[in-house]
Amino acid sequence: MVIGLSIIGYSFTVSLQDFIAELDSLAADAQGAFDDAEDTTALEAARVEFLGAKAGRLKAAQKGMGSVDKPDKPTAGQKFNAVKKTIEAAFDTATARLNNSGGSQKHDAFDVTLPGKPVQLGRLHPITQTINRMKEIMGRLGFTAVEGPEIEDDWHNFEALNIPLSHPARDPLDNFYLATAGAQGNIGAGPDGKPLLLRSQTSTVQIRVMEQATANTVAGGAKPPVRIVSLGRVYRPDTADATHYPMFHQIEGLLVDHGVTMADLKSVLRMFCQSYYGDIEDLHVRFRPSFFPFTEPSVEVDINWRGGWMEIGGAGMVDPNVLRAVGYDPEEVTGFAFGMGVERIAMRQHHITDIRDLYTNDVRFLAQF
Ligand code: DAH
Repeated sequence: MVIGLSIIGYSFTVSLQDFIAELDSLAADAQGAFDDAEDTTALEAARVEFLGAKAGRLKAAQKGMGSVDKPDKPTAGQKFNAVKKTIEAAFDTATARLNNSGGSQKHDAFDVTLPGKPVQLGRLHPITQTINRMKEIMGRLGFTAVEGPEIEDDWHNFEALNIPLSHPARDPLDNFYLATAGAQGNIGAGPDGKPLLLRSQTSTVQIRVMEQATANTVAGGAKPPVRIVSLGRVYRPDTADATHYPMFHQIEGLLVDHGVTMADLKSVLRMFCQSYYGDIEDLHVRFRPSFFPFTEPSVEVDINWRGGWMEIGGAGMVDPNVLRAVGYDPEEVTGFAFGMGVERIAMRQHHITDIRDLYTNDVRFLAQF
């Protein structure tokens, strides 16, 4: 009986190995047919051939499972399911390929010998580079970089800087005032009821720092020396042209201590410029008399550079009225202050002729710095 059965089994069953081999060659055929399909019609024909629900070859192979020995059936079933998944995935890939290429491409065109795409490295904006360099140089001279708000009140932008109510610098045509008279009153006004504005100069930070220092003094904290620089945006309603822009940057410097003189101012500015323009030993700084409400005396600062004199900013000895406004005794301490335009210095250095180029964000321009 045992032998007879085995003879019968030999005659009518399919061995597991054969079944697996058949499925493997079916999978390979299907993969090839789907890969070779050059258009959706060819793909559909291949689909019917292999995955067709009634007469597909996968269906036929499934029927063969009935002839596998019973103990081998679970393995055969697992194999069948795996192959079915592989074939369906190959079909999905071919479908996606034809959809993406509009049916024109036979194989996914990926040439591994092509050079890679270069990574575009970002860089700091030339103004940011200039600011960082200025901060670094002034830092070496002992000046701490501080920041102040861009929305300022009347006190810090004008009043404490000795700019009286009647001064033309307060003209609404020269400033971005924020206040608007509305149903709820004066919107955008400061604590004193006067309109806030986008700061028109970084000299505002002088006042904030000195107020802070005097507040600390009262609390037994830091006293002069005050030695700071402040770099940041300022705003003026100028029409943009090659040399004007409604927003630009300034560097403001302030030193207050016992016995500070104009000679200290000149030395600091000369050392700063010598460092900034590449350690030029014979760089000279020239002062021309000028006027600013917050300094007395006031000067325009020129340096000789590349054979000519060039104006770099304004400066002077902090006006006693300013020292008094922040609670210092002008009989006890003196100070100097200076202010320079960052764009102007960067533009001369890099031969930039139009300030608007700095703010158009054209990477072809910006990538040069
Ligand atoms: N705040 C001035 C301006 O915006 C620049 C300036 C001049 C600043 C003289 C100073 C200074 O600190 O002493 O034009």
